[in-house]
Amino acid sequence: MEFKFKPIPPEFEIKNKIKQDSYLVNGNLKKWEGDFSPVFSSISSTEDYKPTFLGEIPSLGQKQALEALDSACSAFDNGKGLWPTMRVIDRIKAMENFVREMKEKRELVVKLLMWEIGKNHTDSQKEFDRTVDYIYDTIEAYKQIDRDSAKFQKHSGINAHIRRGPLGVVLCLGPYNYPLNETFCLLIPALIMGNTVIFKPAKHGVLLISPLMEAFKKHFPPGVVNILFGRGRVLATPIMESGKINVLALIGHSSSANSLQEKHPKKNRLRLVLGLEAKNPAIILPDADLNLTIKECINGALSYNGQRCTALKIVYVHKDIKDEFLKKFSNAVDQLKYGNPWEEGVKLTPLPEPNKPNYILDLISDAKEKGASIVNQKGGIQSQNYVYPAVLYPVTKEMKVYKEEQFGPVIPVISFSDLNTPLDDMAESNYGQQVSVFGKETERLGPLIDTLVNLVCRVNINSSCQRGPDIYPFTGRKDSAFSTLSVHDALRSFSIRTFVASKDNNENNEIIKDLLSSNNSNFISTDYIL
Ligand code: G3H
Repeated sequence: MEFKFKPIPPEFEIKNKIKQDSYLVNGNLKKWEGDFSPVFSSISSTEDYKPTFLGEIPSLGQKQALEALDSACSAFDNGKGLWPTMRVIDRIKAMENFVREMKEKRELVVKLLMWEIGKNHTDSQKEFDRTVDYIYDTIEAYKQIDRDSAKFQKHSGINAHIRRGPLGVVLCLGPYNYPLNETFCLLIPALIMGNTVIFKPAKHGVLLISPLMEAFKKHFPPGVVNILFGRGRVLATPIMESGKINVLALIGHSSSANSLQEKHPKKNRLRLVLGLEAKNPAIILPDADLNLTIKECINGALSYNGQRCTALKIVYVHKDIKDEFLKKFSNAVDQLKYGNPWEEGVKLTPLPEPNKPNYILDLISDAKEKGASIVNQKGGIQSQNYVYPAVLYPVTKEMKVYKEEQFGPVIPVISFSDLNTPLDDMAESNYGQQVSVFGKETERLGPLIDTLVNLVCRVNINSSCQRGPDIYPFTGRKDSAFSTLSVHDALRSFSIRTFVASKDNNENNEIIKDLLSSNNSNFISTDYIL
């Protein structure tokens, strides 16, 4: 009954299949005459389950990857290119023009988000709007950085004009769970700081880039943005092996980040901006407000079916409230509505990865074999593209679901009597992104917070883990991240401080004055961008 087929409402049908028959290189949407790969949605359009064909993308190879690399390198031109030497205000104008055109594509991009990755309608709309806001916030943050550097300093008889400059050529790879937002959170700051970029859309959530290709072509100088389609390994390997990449910007798994990093012949030249896996715990103390805790844990563990790096992926509950928690939590999980993304009030939606349901079932059976039970009634019920979320208890360290980042609908629960249990587990874990703590008594919370801030990078009090607001630092320890992302920090991550220095004497000062008044340099400027 959970998985009953419902016809697709006409307004959400994809009427025209998308054939993405070009890639963006050297400022041209270059027609592709070679092989194509089909793109399917795991959502069925017919009563007898069948993935829905959405369109096709080019299967580009090594030759096109190197073509995009040459294009990005020429546009940067060892720092001489139009884009890296352009005035800040002009790069901002290009970005404003791009985002204006991007907004016109909202409806189609939102629809493709639902079909390609199964994100519900509200969250798909949020992903689009949040990305647009991120672009505007980035522009404002860059203006502020620029205003702060629109001055000269003098120390020890040397005048200095210090700004932030681009790093060079960026390879940008985003994840399937936020194929628009997380990818653009790398791409946009990289671009606005004057870098040139090669970007490959995520494995799922790729066609939604098609409606934006023309805007990328139109609003950035040739070679500044290069967009490739195909398999990550085929395309990224030769690009990294060239040694010409200055920044690897990747949101995904540490195994991909490590293997790509390995391929770079001069690792010391490679800057990394990485958002990686996590296993954020919830720690529920005996005095926690259970209703609030359950609401937050449901959201934290099961928004977008738990396919978020920030999802709560393991729950530690104090033994004194374990029974009540398990009962209420399981009930709440079983109330969640499953359906296609456009259905009113759906929380649980089809999983986009065809092998994910089997992986989740494997985690469940491994845990059961090792002594856990499914606590909720609907847990583990399966269909061709889904497994109903299973609350597993008691989970132990031997189980796969304890060790692996499940990135899907299964919630392992452990009970504890000594707070050192979750703390020691977190210290031992490979991950260190965030934690949620539920409780009230400050005598217990205070010292706990003081330790937790040293194990992860965000401690959420009585609320689930999340990345936003995007103005706050988003990072992690150990295998969870490298560099910090936030609107402001991302601009720093994709740039370097570089400056012009001159001894304080009459000749030099006259030169500087002349440079300032003549506009002969785009770098030397005390113009104040409002
Ligand atoms: O997949 C990881 C995302 O950065 C999570 O972002 O907490 O806003 O869903 P979110």
